Parts: sequence; C-alpha cells; structure tokens
Amino acid sequence: MHPYLRPLLGGWRATGAVGADVRRLLALRDCHATAAHSEAVAEAASRLAARYGVPERAAEEAAWLHDVSAIIPAEKRLDAARALGLEVLPEEAAFPMILHQRLSAVLAGQVFGVEDPAVLSAIACHTTLKRGASTLDQVVFLADKQAWDQPGLPPYGADLARALDESLEAASLVYLSYLWERRETLGALHPWLREAYEDLRARS
Ligand SMILES: [Fe+2]
Ligand SMILES: [Fe+2]
Repeated sequence: MHPYLRPLLGGWRATGAVGADVRRLLALRDCHATAAHSEAVAEAASRLAARYGVPERAAEEAAWLHDVSAIIPAEKRLDAARALGLEVLPEEAAFPMILHQRLSAVLAGQVFGVEDPAVLSAIACHTTLKRGASTLDQVVFLADKQAWDQPGLPPYGADLARALDESLEAASLVYLSYLWERRETLGALHPWLREAYEDLRARS
C-alpha cells in the first residue's frame, strides 16, 4: 500500500466483506451520507446488472467502492492524486472534485485489494464515463445516477428509465446529453465525458 494511504485508515482493517468494510471505513471518517449513498448505488447496480446480464458481484463491488475516496477531504484530493502518482489532467487540476472517481479506484486496488481491471475501470469512470465504456462501466455509472442523493426526483429520471427499456447505451446517452446541455455550468468539462458523449452519439 502507498504510504500516503495508511494514515487515512486509522485502525481499520479489511475483512473481505466489501459492503461492511466500506461502511466501517466511511463511518470512521464521518462520511455517513456517502455510506448510505453507496449502499443505494450497490442495490441499483445489482438490479441493473441482473437485468442486462452483467456480472452482479463485480457490479456490486464496484458500486460499494465507487465513492470510497470520500475519506480524502475535498481540499486534499489534488495533492493526494499527485502523491499517489496519478497523471492529473488540466480539467482535474481545475476542478479536483472530479478526481474522486480515479482516487476511489486507487483505494479499491491498494486498500481493498481489488485486482479485476473491469471493476477498477467502472469505479474510475463512474462520474464521466469514457469512450468505449463496457457494460459494467455503464451499469455503475447509471446506478450512481439512479441513486440520486439530493431532495426530490432527478430531473432526468423519467427519460433515463424509458431509455433503460431500450439499452444501457441509450440510457448512458440520456444522462450524458443532460450534462452536455449544461456543460457551460459544469466545474470543468472532463475529456472522458466529452469522448463518451461523442462515442455514444456516433453509435446511436
Ligand atoms: Fe462519485
Ligand atoms: Fe456516487
């Protein structure tokens, strides 16, 4: 494990039960809202995975871990990414919140021992998606959007549900289009998001 990570963990130890382990670690760092959200995303991901024939355990594991980098305070994420050797993109340096997806993948690998590149990929692109996204990437991406953690219903919810009757790609494109229309208001337009949007549009 990278020496930067150890002090974040306190006396926490993994037991191998990912849901319980994530919940305990988030509780230790007072990230209670993230714990509740992660549980909701894991449930949504498991449902979507079953519906689309995607491995359910992988989807659930990625979903539990997708926001685990909440244990790194927002103002330390840029330093953390650099300390951990991530190549930080200019858009990420301008808007470090977006780094939480890649930081969660680092924690999943180094703290939780996740080795499956498909699971690590789904965690690392859960906010932006990316070009050529796998079905697992999309399941976790969409589960995160279904488990909307703000008051009321998500504004894209009905369109997303309708598109899910068609395909994962159609649903991913609904949410990416929603962001695309608001791109001037986003903290930064991440290149992975632009590439995912262009990729899915070209294929739709
Ligand atoms: Fe997230
Ligand atoms: Fe999330």
